[in-house]
Amino acid sequence: MGRSVLLDGIGELVTNDPDSTPGGPDPDVAALGLRRDVALVVEEGRIAWIGPRRQAPAADAHHDVGGGAVLPGFVDSHAHLVFAGDRAAEFAARMSGRPYSAGGIRSTVQATRAASDEALRANAARLVAEMVASGTTTFEVKSGYGLSVADEERSCRVAAELTDEVTFLGGHVVPAEYAGDRIGYLDQVAGPMLRACAPHARWADVFCERGALDAVECHVLLERAARAGLGLRVHANQLGPGPGVALAVAHGAASADHCTYLSPSDVHALADSDTVATLLPGAELGTRSPFPDARRLLAAGVTVALATDCNPGTSYTTSMPLCIALAVSMMRMTPAEAVRAATWGGAAALRRTDVGRIVVGGPADLVALTAPSYVHLAYRPGVHLVANVWRKGVARDA
Ligand code: NIG
Ligand code: FE
Repeated sequence: MGRSVLLDGIGELVTNDPDSTPGGPDPDVAALGLRRDVALVVEEGRIAWIGPRRQAPAADAHHDVGGGAVLPGFVDSHAHLVFAGDRAAEFAARMSGRPYSAGGIRSTVQATRAASDEALRANAARLVAEMVASGTTTFEVKSGYGLSVADEERSCRVAAELTDEVTFLGGHVVPAEYAGDRIGYLDQVAGPMLRACAPHARWADVFCERGALDAVECHVLLERAARAGLGLRVHANQLGPGPGVALAVAHGAASADHCTYLSPSDVHALADSDTVATLLPGAELGTRSPFPDARRLLAAGVTVALATDCNPGTSYTTSMPLCIALAVSMMRMTPAEAVRAATWGGAAALRRTDVGRIVVGGPADLVALTAPSYVHLAYRPGVHLVANVWRKGVARDA
């Protein structure tokens, strides 16, 4: 038997298990499955027991979270962590008025290709450490800054050292050396690049956008990736209205990400599908773009996830708490909806049912706050409220 730890002093427990509470007047809050006056026992990386504090069984160790809220660890379903260099100068230029364009990706491609494996690993590991310190316990990592067979394979390999949720994004943009031969590049992506990357990846993604790939190009890549056994994700409708969301739904993608500019038919298509709308408020913040209206999606019955989109171009943040705060203040989500979207929603976007909730038998992926309620994540923007993080029962630095 492994060492068991009793977690006590919990101000409120967010389980995301609506059956565990009778439910209150607000359905968004009821969905969080809030419990009070409870303790939990962690053993061998799993939740072994949840119940009233007074009935807590004996355990080998005791950890008092001092009245803080305990939540499922955040599930960040969209992050570009394998890259080199930064684009602080591009960001500063943008903040003095230059518009964002997808072309900026190519400067990161140049830096990434020039970097050693060790440098790529170290940069990605630094970002993962930031993520975990802010409460993230499951995260996706995309390639997409290599854009050659060898560099995409390397990016996917480095990503696979960090997570099981690796996404092949050879269809990010057409790299500079193929500017006059788009078809030549797409043949590479759908052929040798996909073959080299698929063994490291669970997902494939495409950037369907003006300045990146068009709908037909994305359609072909998605079809080929699905045939190679990968699940699908789509960067959709980020910089303007477009075909990305419809394409994601038509291909049964697990998520359509960004969803900044949606038509009524995009919203209907999402609502009638299993495709999650993944909102990335860090990207709106970092590009001074209008925030999408999450309320419109939620009202239509769309499953919404929140993720960081951590990348050096548009959203250089690893903080899910920041995304929650932005989603509440700028996208019309309630604190309960935003917390659920950052946990259970992220899990749904990765088609996972094991993470994003706290249930007996599930992994002990937990975050304890210094604040008494999950509401503080939105109420106290920019304040580090994470006291402790456990991944599979192992305490991590917060
Ligand atoms: O999600 N949209 C495509 N990819 C990134 C931006 C990448 C970049 O500018 O480097 C995003 O925002
Ligand atoms: Fe992205």
